[in-house]
Amino acid sequence: MPELPAFPFPTDHALRPSPRLGDARGDRAPVLVQPAYGAPAWLVTRHADARHVLSSPAFGRDPRRAGIADEDIARITPVDITVQTMVSTDPPDHTRVRRFVFHTFTPRRIERLRPSTERIADALVDAMVEQGPPADLFESFGLALPIQVICDLLGVPTADRSRFTAWTDILIDAGGLSPDEVLASIDEMNDYLADQADRRVQNPTDDLIGALVRARVEGDRLSRDEMVNLIRTLLAAGHETTASQIPNFVFLLLRTGDTGSSPPAPSWSPRPSRSSCATSR
Ligand code: HEM
Repeated sequence: MPELPAFPFPTDHALRPSPRLGDARGDRAPVLVQPAYGAPAWLVTRHADARHVLSSPAFGRDPRRAGIADEDIARITPVDITVQTMVSTDPPDHTRVRRFVFHTFTPRRIERLRPSTERIADALVDAMVEQGPPADLFESFGLALPIQVICDLLGVPTADRSRFTAWTDILIDAGGLSPDEVLASIDEMNDYLADQADRRVQNPTDDLIGALVRARVEGDRLSRDEMVNLIRTLLAAGHETTASQIPNFVFLLLRTGDTGSSPPAPSWSPRPSRSSCATSR
């Protein structure tokens, strides 16, 4: 068999997707690729294919249901970080676990977070302007905004944010750590979050962890491990994705035309005004 293309495809520009992703959308898709770890995988990039895979009951996310739990499953991290989370679960377990947070993420409930999110965004932009150029958009805004929002939602102290980001960084990119070291980091994060949940048994809170603890105590339909894994998923998925996308979006907005060229140096000079992204409707 010819050597398979390595995935993720290499790119010569950190902020630009590899041109090979575009190739993969051509007639040859789906493409068989070799991910960083595990067995080869089919890479699906065309919209119609993605819709089919994501909506057809013939496909699933639970390796146990597919009978391949013991296989070296394709992944981009040394250990499968989705194990025992809703990301690797199919209905009915997925539906049961998801129901515990469904009400928190309805459009109406999320809309209620707008004023506080805008306040956080405004304060972060003001602080960047105050400090003057150059600014680190990722550290000062891209990461700071979602981590504050998800910490407030869950009810975990923002003061511990460096621990959350360090744990999440290891989840996403082990950076040369061995599988055992990655698993130890996940255990550490789980212990921290389990402790946060335990405190709420005696001292109930109105945050999302408090609501999960109450739902568990009252209904006992969510195991302790499932609850901790759910909180970990929300904490990690709730900030890393947005943190990496905000600078990408700003980069795209700064790009002129569709030339693929690097963004020009900003022609504006920072002034103490509100950010448009924080106040636009
Ligand atoms: C730009 C921001 C975001 C992007 C690009 C993104 C992307 C994704 C993708 C692609 C999946 C599907 C993963 C899979 O099925 O393997 C996913 C699932 C998920 N995301 Fe996000 N996400 C973002 C923001 C968030 C935020 C802010 C939260 C939490 C507050 C969150 C929580 C979750 C959860 C819990 C799942 C699993 C859902 C399920 O299994 O039903 N994500 N996200």
